[in-house]
Amino acid sequence: MTTTEHTTPSPSAVDSGASASASFRAGSASGFGSAGSSTARVDTLARAVLAAVHGVIREHKVTYPEFQAAKKWLMDLGDGGEWPLFLDVFVEHAVEEVAAETQAGTTGTILGPYYLPDQVRLPAVAALPARPDEPGSSWLFQGQVRDLDGNPLAGAELDVWQNSADGFYSGFAPHLPEGNLRGVVVTDEQGRFAISTILPAPYQVPTDGPTGELIEAAGWHPWRPAHLHLLVRADGHRTITTQLYFTGAQYIDDDVARATKPELILDPQQLADGSFRSEYDFVLEPV
Ligand code: DHB
Ligand code: FE
Repeated sequence: MTTTEHTTPSPSAVDSGASASASFRAGSASGFGSAGSSTARVDTLARAVLAAVHGVIREHKVTYPEFQAAKKWLMDLGDGGEWPLFLDVFVEHAVEEVAAETQAGTTGTILGPYYLPDQVRLPAVAALPARPDEPGSSWLFQGQVRDLDGNPLAGAELDVWQNSADGFYSGFAPHLPEGNLRGVVVTDEQGRFAISTILPAPYQVPTDGPTGELIEAAGWHPWRPAHLHLLVRADGHRTITTQLYFTGAQYIDDDVARATKPELILDPQQLADGSFRSEYDFVLEPV
């Protein structure tokens, strides 16, 4: 699958970076609000971050030209609106790891910068909104949402989003219609759902902005394995933020965002007509 053949206008770091920043500022990225940390907590964390930076400088004998280059790069990162992209690729996985220590139910992973709230609500058996000629392999994704005791959760919501076959997310790339491959699927009386969509594609961190500049300068690769994003929620239960991946997929063992987990890897079955099918059940813990 190629992700380099862009249609016109070509989506760019400017599009995805700036829209990801605007989306985050609008509170739509997560709706977290202020962290509410005490003065003592801010003091502890700010000191620790600075001490870690000082440690790197001392250990690696960072020079003045390197310090000034880093300063310029950080300014460019902000000017390009790429802080959400950068932090979600390189930092969020550690925050999620800490959060996971106190969570039960289905394994979570990072949210990433491309969630958009208020997407179309769909019944339990539904097709995600797509273009009439949406490229990609057809994929039926089905399963059940249950609580920790195994009781089905009727009316649970699977808020799903994914990229299109060319690797871009709707709402963050001008060539895709709003809401493409996004939707909120509501489970039936048995907590079941069946979503018709296409297989997602590998995702490339935009290479034409400051994040891409760093990745190239460091000799890293800019890819995430193909994934489906989900927020799974039900009244009285903690919302799970997660992603599902595909066994044997490119970059599955070398995700630039370090956000894959073995429990989240699907092994889709290919049917005679060439389409794919997967089952996955979600378990939510009470709040
Ligand atoms: C980024 C993009 C993603 O699609 C994702 O799932 C996580 C992070 C990013 O570019 O920051
Ligand atoms: Fe993603």
